[in-house]
Amino acid sequence: MTFSQNADANVFFSCWKSPSNIALIKYWGKSGNQIPANASMSITLKEAYTLTRIKAGLIRNGGGPEVEFRFEGEINEAFGGRIESFLKSVVSYLPFLKEARLEIESGNNFPHSAGIASSASAMSALALCLCSLEKEITGLETGMEAFLRKASFIARIGSGSACRSVYGGIPVWGSHKAVEGSDNEYAVPLSFDLHPVFSEIRDTILIVDPGQKKVSSSVGHNLMKGHAYADARYKQAESNLTAMLVALKQGDWDTFSLITENEALSLHAMMMTSRPGYLLMHPNSLIIIEKVIEFRKQSGSAICFTLDAGPNVHLLYPAGETENVRPLIDELKVFCHKGTAIDDTMGSGPEKLNCR
Ligand code: PMV
Repeated sequence: MTFSQNADANVFFSCWKSPSNIALIKYWGKSGNQIPANASMSITLKEAYTLTRIKAGLIRNGGGPEVEFRFEGEINEAFGGRIESFLKSVVSYLPFLKEARLEIESGNNFPHSAGIASSASAMSALALCLCSLEKEITGLETGMEAFLRKASFIARIGSGSACRSVYGGIPVWGSHKAVEGSDNEYAVPLSFDLHPVFSEIRDTILIVDPGQKKVSSSVGHNLMKGHAYADARYKQAESNLTAMLVALKQGDWDTFSLITENEALSLHAMMMTSRPGYLLMHPNSLIIIEKVIEFRKQSGSAICFTLDAGPNVHLLYPAGETENVRPLIDELKVFCHKGTAIDDTMGSGPEKLNCR
């Protein structure tokens, strides 16, 4: 492959907006090149997204990719270093990178310190831009399905959970007998329509602590190697995913809540029982969880909670309950950092933008 000889045509642009996601069935434990120990499933969000724009030019020595990375307008060497090593790790799948000089600009529409996982939105946006550039530069003809699958594959190498953000709704990543076409190397969308009660899932993110995690997810994944409960955990995730699929088809919020909370608490139980063990929940996360359970008991609401690998609590509920749960959320803001709660909702996935 070489870039076009026409000087004007030697500059290419690509721009994608891609959202974050929150896992219902958690990915925790991996092997090899980001191969998950169990299949996972998540809700793709709408409002928390990364916008990435790449300007690609030609270099003739084939020693690329050369990269200049700006985060929110500023050259960012720490992020840039991570992106450069990611790009080197995907050159064999995207050979055009050897002849490319990339000017990458990226930014989130949520504050970096909001405690929302940004690697999923960042890596999926970057992977989508790279796959678009590949198509444009090499003239590769692919249909949408193959394009998204490749973008998901590339995003996975950057950050496992990012591969799910390539699809809207509730995608699955990892081989699972009940999900047709599921694969450890990329995510797939569900092959059936969600029951209408799940068509508008709200996620209010209670920011208990916006700070940097004490233990990174990659350290956490590694601690699953030789973990006393690892095999039981992987079996639990497998059967939870099977049951979740049935709940999503049948419109069963009770089972949805039961499994979602079981997964969140199991994820944190794995952290606590690792060697060394550690805690990412904050005392306020526990207070919030207790209050959500109590509110559900008293009101019959469908609201449930989940957690990422951190102290912030995601509250999931049907859009129709927004007014019912408002007083609870207002009460819970007292336990949040500066009273911060971010309202989000299930979204339809990334968007390609025209932003030369
Ligand atoms: O994609 P990673 O390596 O940052 O791991 C994400 C792990 C969890 O967010 C805790 C669970 C998940 O499935 O997203």
